[in-house]
Amino acid sequence: MKGIKILGTGSYIPSTTVTNDDFVKFIDTSDEWIYTRTGIKQRFYSTEKMNFQMAAEAAQKALENSGVKAEEIDLIILSTCSTDFFYPNTSCLVQNIIGAANASCIDVNTACTGFITALDMARRYLCTGDVKKVLVVASEFLTRQLDYTDRTSCFLFGDGAGAVVAEAADKPFYSVTGAKGDMLDALYCRIQYSGKYPEEGFDHYDKDIREKLDTEAKNKFLQMDGKAVYRFAVDAMADSFKKVCEKAGVKACDVDILIPHQANIRIISAAMKSMDIPDEKIYINLDKHGNTSSACIPTILDELNRTGKLKEGEKMALVGFGAGLTYGSIYMEL
Ligand code: UT7
Repeated sequence: MKGIKILGTGSYIPSTTVTNDDFVKFIDTSDEWIYTRTGIKQRFYSTEKMNFQMAAEAAQKALENSGVKAEEIDLIILSTCSTDFFYPNTSCLVQNIIGAANASCIDVNTACTGFITALDMARRYLCTGDVKKVLVVASEFLTRQLDYTDRTSCFLFGDGAGAVVAEAADKPFYSVTGAKGDMLDALYCRIQYSGKYPEEGFDHYDKDIREKLDTEAKNKFLQMDGKAVYRFAVDAMADSFKKVCEKAGVKACDVDILIPHQANIRIISAAMKSMDIPDEKIYINLDKHGNTSSACIPTILDELNRTGKLKEGEKMALVGFGAGLTYGSIYMEL
């Protein structure tokens, strides 16, 4: 089966560190509670760059690392669920900054599953032969979507961006993706439209819709049923990983590198419990970064690449889930 070769990786990590102790100043919590329940010690907040600027930094570094010129990129696929603009899309903004004038630009949003979706799409485009080089970027600025009075969610997230440059290659690549839209209430963030409809002479909308349109409502921030997401995540990650291994005809224990979505160390351990994968094959950076949504996986990919741990021929799996609720796994050989 035709797969892809990763030619280079890049990432952007914001410079502002926010520790668990910083949260103790405004919510009833402790470093000990956050660490033992999630595995998170600290996260990085973007205090200098918008989302598209973080994305462009990661993209630029991936280009440099790959030796591919910006003009050679035929397509940019960018994952984000924390975009700066409704339009233009973030990939157009990145295209402009990095000078990828020949690239088509597509944004995707499957929330935290986004990098898996984007890489899967990249492979499908590359397989047609119409597109030779793809830049896949995932960039997230979730910390501005948070309700800092909600002690059950605000400490989980960080900001950042990761990117890869890829081309087609004769290597195995399999994916399993899906969604469970009936669980949308478990994790969502409404768009903050600012327009208010006039009260007088404007009875086109019923009361219910008016309440939903109320931009002052608390639910303009990220809303999460942590336990429902947790349960879904454990099953969806385990299931999609098992299925992708079956599709590829490999055993889970044969995978050399497993990069799971970095939401909670307990979710990762529970999902992988039955799979007989040694801990040293499972890559984690959530202790330092928290959950950076779709940027988690490419950020780790870049860490591995820059420390010489992405070796030709190795078997790699990417496993994720996110708002939607969505899920997905990729099995590929490097
Ligand atoms: O990319 C996807 C994004 N979302 C996720 O990944 C979220 C998935 N869910 C989770 O990670 C976990 O459900 C949480 C970390 C959010 C919560 O962990 P939990 O083990 O499910 O805790 P819990 O909600 O069962 O709360 C246990 C206790 C409760 O107290 P009582 O009712 O037992 O007295 C909470 O009120 O901990 C309390 N609690 C806290 N205590 C200190 C909740 N949040 C905090 C807090 N500090 N920040």
